[in-house]
Amino acid sequence: MLPVDLLPIAAPPANPHYHQLGGAAALQRLVERFYQLMDQLPQAHAIRAMHPADLTPSRERLFMFLSGWLGGPPLYAERIGPPRLRRDHMAFAIDSAARDAWMACMTQALAEQVEDETLRAQLGAALFKTADFLCNQ
Ligand code: HEM
Repeated sequence: MLPVDLLPIAAPPANPHYHQLGGAAALQRLVERFYQLMDQLPQAHAIRAMHPADLTPSRERLFMFLSGWLGGPPLYAERIGPPRLRRDHMAFAIDSAARDAWMACMTQALAEQVEDETLRAQLGAALFKTADFLCNQ
């Protein structure tokens, strides 16, 4: 039997949400589905029109941002620079309807892909706060 101070300690992971979600592959699927829904949901029509026709760069940037935001690799900061979400969204008229449309896509993507109810609720609430902070109208 090892003395107590030599027993291995099960330290919690430094980036629990990123791992709980399922890491890079799961995040990629979530972002992919989010933009598919933005293309498809009638209530997302107005916010879809704010985005470029080709959503590839949007997918890449949201993936990189969320990776760091969830506590995983800070890809956005490494490849683009410190995220300045509010400044970057000033170019678009974002009111509560736009926020709710963005959240409708994200809520459905989370519902389809995140089984853990607690994690889903935590992510949904934190994303709502972020989306609300981006309202500029
Ligand atoms: C509130 C409703 C929102 C609207 C209407 C909106 C709309 C947009 C638009 C039109 C762009 C520019 C096109 C593009 O680069 O894809 C953009 C960029 C971006 N958005 Fe949003 N967005 C919203 C909320 C959010 C939230 C909540 C997040 C993060 C959790 C987010 C993360 C990003 C990122 C990382 C970029 C790329 C920034 C860059 O490097 O240029 N957005 N958004």
